[in-house]
Amino acid sequence: MSIVHVTRRAHFNAAHRLHNPEQSDEWNRAVFGKCNNPNWHGHNYELEVTVSGEPSPETGYVIDLAELKTIMNRQVIDICDHANLNLDVPFMQGILPSTENFAVAIWHRLVDALPSGKLTSIRLFETPRNYVEYRGE
Ligand code: NI
Repeated sequence: MSIVHVTRRAHFNAAHRLHNPEQSDEWNRAVFGKCNNPNWHGHNYELEVTVSGEPSPETGYVIDLAELKTIMNRQVIDICDHANLNLDVPFMQGILPSTENFAVAIWHRLVDALPSGKLTSIRLFETPRNYVEYRGE
């Protein structure tokens, strides 16, 4: 068995606001600071999707990366790019759009959409220095 981890990286930008409607405006300002700005703010997101498995004896691929790109575009990027995560993205409705929650939501968009291999990791960079990783646990 040779399990290989294959990663595709994608870029998009999106706006959001961190605001918990169950808490007071004061609480939200104190906890989220600038990220609670009522008029939104944007991020240049980098998304890394890792799929793992044994390379196919026929193709040598765990997953065809062109196909993974198409799936990531259809399931995530085309919906989120230049969009407002709070208002425009159906799969984020009712979810506080922290990087953590966004990564989990992206996992669920992809996990059953892959033709081969097993989704192993979602890495989502909100800034070049800050990223989260979700492994489906
Ligand atoms: Ni933000």
